[in-house]
Amino acid sequence: MDNDCERILITEEQIRSRVKEIAEAINRDYQGKNPLVVGILKGAILFFSDIIRHLSMPIDLDFMVVSSYGSGTVSSGKLKIKKDLDNDVEGRDVLIVEDIIDSGFTLSNLKALLTERGAASIKIATLLNKSSRRVYDIAPDYNCFYIEDEFVVGYGLDYREYYRNLPYIGILKASVYEEDGE
Ligand code: IMP
Ligand code: MG
Repeated sequence: MDNDCERILITEEQIRSRVKEIAEAINRDYQGKNPLVVGILKGAILFFSDIIRHLSMPIDLDFMVVSSYGSGTVSSGKLKIKKDLDNDVEGRDVLIVEDIIDSGFTLSNLKALLTERGAASIKIATLLNKSSRRVYDIAPDYNCFYIEDEFVVGYGLDYREYYRNLPYIGILKASVYEEDGE
């Protein structure tokens, strides 16, 4: 798997120290609160588990599985919920933890949904932000790294479900896509 990467974009050490910084900002903002921290599966698993261990307030955990089918088609795209929350969000301070904001389709829809369900507040923490790709009007409240418009894998992010377990963020070699006939 390491051999499939052309280069490492963000190292394990860079991720570790930045995640800690972001957790400290969250600790300041949520002092005295009891947020519902929502991880978006599967991409956010590593970021989620690393960030929550630095949070100092009592938190409830929950997860959603969503698919952004149709996210390419701006007009007809709709978020599909494959696994919904176990918790009621009404009156809760919700912190969404996501791997990457690309077009913004997923998070803008999710934020609208949780607003409709009566969340007291909704904030977004993302590991990566591809801001040049934004189509939908959404910005994270906490962002670890801005990246260029390049496809990345590792630390939760996949290419065809592989590479999620790489401990760093990397760029795949062109040959990996060519072997898949793309
Ligand atoms: P959005 O709805 O367009 O913002 O897309 C967000 C989703 O697209 C993420 O949760 C990822 O699953 C996927 N995605 C976007 N860019 C990348 C990438 O570079 N590598 C892996 N997955 C990506
Ligand atoms: Mg994905």
